[in-house]
Amino acid sequence: MDMKIPQRSDYTFKYNKKLGRHGWLRLTPAYSVKLVTEIIDNIPKDSFILDPFSGTATTGVVAAENELSAHCFDINPFLVWLGNAKCRNYSKASLKKLRSGIEKSLFECKAIANEDNWLPDMHNITRWWCEHTLKVLAALRQALVNQFGEPVEDNVSTLAWIAFCRLIIETSSAAFNHISMSFSDEVTTFEIEQVESLYQEIVNAIVQSVSKDLVGSASVHYADSRKPVSINNVRYSHVVTSPPYPNRISYIRELRPYMYWTKFLDTAREAGELDWKAIGGTWGVATSRLKVWESDRIKLPKSLQVIVSQILETKEKNTLLMANYVWKYFHDMHLHLNSLRNNLEKGAVLSYIVGNSSFYGVQVPTEKLLEDSLRSLGFTNVGSKVIRKRNSKKELFEYCIYATWKYTRKLEPKFLSVNSTQSRQLTLFSSMGKQ
Ligand SMILES: C[S@@+](CC[C@H](N)C(=O)[O-])C[C@H]1O[C@@H](n2cnc3c(N)ncnc32)[C@H](O)[C@@H]1O
Repeated sequence: MDMKIPQRSDYTFKYNKKLGRHGWLRLTPAYSVKLVTEIIDNIPKDSFILDPFSGTATTGVVAAENELSAHCFDINPFLVWLGNAKCRNYSKASLKKLRSGIEKSLFECKAIANEDNWLPDMHNITRWWCEHTLKVLAALRQALVNQFGEPVEDNVSTLAWIAFCRLIIETSSAAFNHISMSFSDEVTTFEIEQVESLYQEIVNAIVQSVSKDLVGSASVHYADSRKPVSINNVRYSHVVTSPPYPNRISYIRELRPYMYWTKFLDTAREAGELDWKAIGGTWGVATSRLKVWESDRIKLPKSLQVIVSQILETKEKNTLLMANYVWKYFHDMHLHLNSLRNNLEKGAVLSYIVGNSSFYGVQVPTEKLLEDSLRSLGFTNVGSKVIRKRNSKKELFEYCIYATWKYTRKLEPKFLSVNSTQSRQLTLFSSMGKQ
């Protein structure tokens, strides 16, 4: 690989920070508006785009900003809720109502600041906020509930809650100077007046960013992209997405504060359960489940067996767990690509942004392994190009994998067949994983 390939921060989430709706809440694994815009540039206006791994709905919003239609799927209910709020248009009257509700909440907040208001049951919560700031945030939260109800509602009040999410992260000690999150040594104390003016500032920015209507249409749906999903029988002409990477980064880890404060999560166990459902999930219970996970008897590319064997041969402490992790990731992505075939129209074009990874010095060439899956499932014009370098030291890159679907009819799910050699190999891997 040419080591001169640049890191290109304009091709990461950093590019989105000041771009209206795109900058509301950060998710480190979000991809860049610039990259999506380049991918969908010049596609016909009657195209229908699918993003099966929506995250913060970057694809959906970019599509809707460019007069296109898109459906997005995600397995995390919080991201479905957030994504739909980003993809919606808001009338002037509803925004006026929102502002007046927020004014009333800020007034009430002062009155209830000394009461024992509800706080989320987050592990080590005072690492995020000091006792004083927590009291103020809890009072504001309660005042917002009194005005708008709990955050699950899908209407303009969602904006008040998204602003609250932004507030809790800005008042917290969480530092995002790395791909994952860490904590600053000191927790700053925020007075009620500071919290109120910061909240008002955030609300103003959010309201400003929705003042311009989206010209296209996009919606986000709760779905598991490994399984067959159909929204109004739509067949997609383009799939533009960035699935999880096989790099053990957990989305829940970063989303936890938002999800606890909005009651999308109540306990650490639930966080682990949700991560287990996500492809590449590795948080809490997901790790112990992985130890005993057994693959479906599906036919996976031989190249995957080679990589997994190489990881097993390193005989490091967690070798078996990591081998199972890699196996399951590509297994799940294969299931996804298999189901996806039912959703595509003839000639549909796929663009998948993925990153490679490395386990105990063994390179996991995500792009090559997924290309092999695509070919084995009947996709054509399969290939990939490197987009950016991800890390200054290691050989970690981001790629765009592309492929075309040339069939018109739904295929029978023949992926459930497996030859006997592969079957033995799979049994071997899963029994090794149990040792
Ligand atoms: C890399 S992120 C996508 C980031 C997105 N491109 C953005 O700009 O925010 C991958 C997303 O896939 C979702 N995901 C993981 N497994 C899934 C599954 N089986 N079905 C649907 N979504 C899934 C995760 O919840 C996460 O939001």
